[in-house]
Order: sequence, then structure tokens, then C-alpha cells
Amino acid sequence: MNVAIIGCGGMGHMHARMAANAGLKVVVCGDKFKRKADALAKKFDAAASDDCMEVITRPDVDIVAIATPTPVHTQYVVAAAEAGKHVFCEKPFGRTVHQCKEAIAAVKKAGVRLFVGHVVRYFQEFEAIKAQVDAGKIGRVGFIRTYRGGIMPEGEEMWFRDYDQSGGVTFDCVIHDLDWLRYMFGDVDHVFSQHLQRSTPETMDYSQTTLRMKSGVIANVIGTWAHPSGFRVKTELCGESGMIQYDSAESPIHAMSRGNAGAGPGMIVPSSPVPVSPYQLEWEDFVAWLYEEREPRVTAHDALEAVRIGLAALQSAESGKPVFL
Ligand SMILES: NC(=O)c1ccc[n+]([C@@H]2O[C@H](COP(=O)([O-])OP(=O)(O)OC[C@H]3O[C@@H](n4cnc5c(N)ncnc54)[C@H](O)[C@@H]3O)[C@@H](O)[C@H]2O)c1
Repeated sequence: MNVAIIGCGGMGHMHARMAANAGLKVVVCGDKFKRKADALAKKFDAAASDDCMEVITRPDVDIVAIATPTPVHTQYVVAAAEAGKHVFCEKPFGRTVHQCKEAIAAVKKAGVRLFVGHVVRYFQEFEAIKAQVDAGKIGRVGFIRTYRGGIMPEGEEMWFRDYDQSGGVTFDCVIHDLDWLRYMFGDVDHVFSQHLQRSTPETMDYSQTTLRMKSGVIANVIGTWAHPSGFRVKTELCGESGMIQYDSAESPIHAMSRGNAGAGPGMIVPSSPVPVSPYQLEWEDFVAWLYEEREPRVTAHDALEAVRIGLAALQSAESGKPVFL
């Protein structure tokens, strides 16, 4: 099957590589800036265009991979669905719940398949934690602490630093943990969040969100875009009969590379010291679904719910009050 990449920045490069690793062919790259489309297309001997709607409707395209800034995901998901193409969309699925619902309706109407890249479900460390919890190794889990973040990302035209577009660390970055916690422990009852979304004198963001799940489980989620360098992920789960801890800085193999492969300007994504990237595993899961081999680990509904929780956290931080979902 052939893939079109829409949005040729950091994640566009990553997904072009991962789609190719998963056995697909990148045939065309689209970006609002022709120079960005050209740069990625050159690596895959693909066509390039700054007319993304034209890219999406090309007859040789089977799958559209969307890696643009979050607020414009929906317009491309809808266009791809209307053109009869399957869709891989980066997280966050949309900037609003309304956008997510619009995208789901378009995909359902067209009868195409939509996968949203909640990649933490595919990180081997998080898979290992899930396997331990599911096997009852620490008994019933009551409390979880997560920590995720790094440098303040830039993105093309500094879009990450425009909180209206990105939602800051609480929405853009922590959504990984919000999705993972819901995957592990079910729906959220209410959320309380506090954040610093600073633009002067330096742009940085830091947030703390407490989730109370419907099951009674409590989770404390820290997100930071205030690191001087690097990216770090930590988690701790407390159960009735034990505890699991993970810290990316203390993994048995701590891999660090200059200019993290696939990352765009001013953005570092978490890496994993394992032979198959979790970003490839999510593509393989999506492709297996397209070939009717299995259901994917992430559904569009999961992605919508992650957006709903992230937005509730932002609303709580703004109002100073808990938000019930
Ligand atoms: N899963 C992860 O680990 C992860 C990591 C980083 C970013 N992301 C997500 O991936 C998406 C892209 O982030 P990024 O880091 O690649 O950003 P980026 O700024 O590096 O790349 C975005 C690209 O989209 C292009 N673009 C902007 N507006 C456009 C439009 N209207 N039409 C077509 N192209 C447009 C830009 O020119 C740029 O090349 C975001 O939703 C972000 O939240 C996910």
C-alpha cells in the first residue's frame, strides 16, 4: 500500500520512516511549505507538493498520514476519508472534542479506517508494566505517579509555543499519559490541574494533574517543558502487594544520541533502547488492522477520550476547580 505524508516536520519524517519499515511505500509528501515537502520527498524518492488536498486525492495513495500541528488534523482526516483513504493521525486527535467527533463521523461515513498515534501503548517499558499489573504482580493498583517532558519544543513557526494551538505540555505531551492511564485503569471521573504556561521572559510550561478514575484509582501526572535539555519519562505504580517503578534515565541501556534521529527542529521525542521502535510497532498494528489480521490497540474513541481528559485538565487549570467528566 502507498502512503502520503501530510506535514513534513519532525513527526512527518518519523512516520515516513516507520511506514517504510512496516512495508509501505511513501509516494508523496505534502506540507504547507514546499521546501519541507521537498526535503522529505527526496529521502523516499517520492513526489512533493504544497497543495495537501491534491496530495490526499491522488489515485495512487491508499493511506494518509497526518503529522501537522494539532488544530489542522481534522480538516485532513475529513478530506482523506472523503477521498476513500485510510488515515494515520498523530496525537492529539484534535484540538476540540467537536473536531474529533467530526473526524470520526467522516471516517464512519466513508467506511475507511482511522488510527491515532498513542504511541506510549507500544513502548516496551509500558507494555512490560501492563503485563506485570495484569498478571497481578503488585495486586490491586491504588495510586500512580507519572512524569514526562523535556525541552520546550519549537516546531515549524514555533507553533508549540502558541498555547492556543498546542495546548501546552498539559494537552500536547501529557495526553500520552492520560491515554495510557485510561487504557490501564478505565474512565476518569474527575480531574484537577494546575499549570504554568509562561511566555515571558522565557517560554516554558509545567503542569501537575490529579485524576480520580471511576474505579477509585488516583493518578498524579506531571508534565514539563521546562528542561534545559533532553527528555525524561518516569512512572511509579503502587499496588496492594508491591510497587513498580520506571525511569528512562535509569534504564539498563541508556541510549543517547546527538540530533535524535527523526526529530525535527527543537523537538525531542522519547526514545527506547530496543531494536524495534514503538513508532514502528504502532504502524505494524495499523497495517495488520488494514489487512484484517487483528483489531488495533488504539481506537478512535480512545483518542477522543484522551482529548476530552486533556481539555478537562486545561479547563481545571484555568478555573482553579476540579472538572467532572
Ligand atoms: N507521538 C509523539 O511522540 C509526538 C511527538 C511530537 C509531536 N507529536 C505530534 O505530531 C504532530 C506534528 O508535530 P511535529 O513535532 O512534527 O511538528 P513540526 O512543526 O515539526 O511539523 C509540522 C509540519 O506541518 C506543517 N504544517 C503546518 N501547518 C500546516 C497545514 N495547515 N497544512 C500542511 N502542513 C502544515 C509544517 O510546515 C511542518 O512541516 C503534532 O500533532 C504533535 O502534537 C507527536
